[in-house]
Amino acid sequence: MDTKIAVIKGDGIGPEIVDATTPVLDAAAKAFGHRFRYEYLQAGGAAIDQDGEPLPKKTLKKCKDADAILLGAVGGPKWDSLSGDKRPEMAILRLREELGLFANLRPAIVYDELAFASPLRPEIVSGGVNILIVRELTGGIYFGQRGTEVIGESSAFSKIVDHLKGEKTLPPGRFAYDVEQYSEFEISRIAKVAFEMAMKRGRHVTSVDKANVLDSSRLWRSVVEEVRAGYPEVKLEHLYVDNAAQQLIMDPKQFDVILTSNLFGDILSDEASQITGSIGMLPSASLGEGSRGLYEPIHGSAPQYAGRDWANPIATILSAAMLLRYSLDLAAEADAVEKAVGDYLRGGYRTADILTEGKIPIGTAECGKRIAGLVQK
Ligand code: IPM
Ligand code: MG
Repeated sequence: MDTKIAVIKGDGIGPEIVDATTPVLDAAAKAFGHRFRYEYLQAGGAAIDQDGEPLPKKTLKKCKDADAILLGAVGGPKWDSLSGDKRPEMAILRLREELGLFANLRPAIVYDELAFASPLRPEIVSGGVNILIVRELTGGIYFGQRGTEVIGESSAFSKIVDHLKGEKTLPPGRFAYDVEQYSEFEISRIAKVAFEMAMKRGRHVTSVDKANVLDSSRLWRSVVEEVRAGYPEVKLEHLYVDNAAQQLIMDPKQFDVILTSNLFGDILSDEASQITGSIGMLPSASLGEGSRGLYEPIHGSAPQYAGRDWANPIATILSAAMLLRYSLDLAAEADAVEKAVGDYLRGGYRTADILTEGKIPIGTAECGKRIAGLVQK
């Protein structure tokens, strides 16, 4: 049977980066004798325009039926005025939730060829930044209770608001809340993923929390300690998130696996991406209990660059390599794609985001074609 890959191009630069990526998957299929069938689906702003909702039922169903999902990016100024649950981003959040994709893997690697594109000094980044951020993806503040109320007006949520306000007497006005929350079960399953990953890498986990302030972080820390007992070979450190943000810039080479919550992982992965030179280079995999996963670049839809053949498709191409590795169990094929990306960079070609003096400028589509041409068994 053919392998079924659901493909969501999305908005902004999404269609261009995805169109530059499928030829790379095709090249891997050809070199290794596989057949991938793509099922193109709508989600995000494009789906709002067409069907009136960010994640149409048909898209969700077909994603559930697929072996893996490849996604470009969603969102844009056109939909910015929509309320929270109608925004394009809801498509991603609902896909993660509905498919139970609780583990988000975000590798941040500095390619030596790109050390000069990093805003950090070359000696801080070259020869060894290789970080895997393991971000919890279906819990925390992203999925906790939230709401906006008017203090003084009674509503179904007045009790919650009273509770959240605590002893504070607040003047009348609007009041909004988002609850950060974690259960032992959620922490323990993501911690296991981080320790398993660390066993295959540098055997070092840095767990990032805010345990000096938050109860949810204190629970996080103690559950991570308990899970660690099963991995005596792995070195475990805890950092407060503010300190982690600082250490990432000061000495990124000290990190191997960073284990953290949904919100902290969102922020730290954008920070880590800049260390590598461009957010256009960072892929991600979102995994659950089974093999089906969602693969997407960590960057957004960059509407200002859409339609200009300008965007860097490497984050999406590397996401496709992760798809091969984690959902299809095709490690040699994934290696071949990753190697092709390295060879391409060594060839001196650069999309605008990482262009430095003396390098050869290249567009989105051509970049995809060149990488595809370098995929070898
Ligand atoms: C990411 C994005 C998403 C997130 C948005 C688009 C909902 O920033 O994947 O990092 O916050 O998780
Ligand atoms: Mg983000």
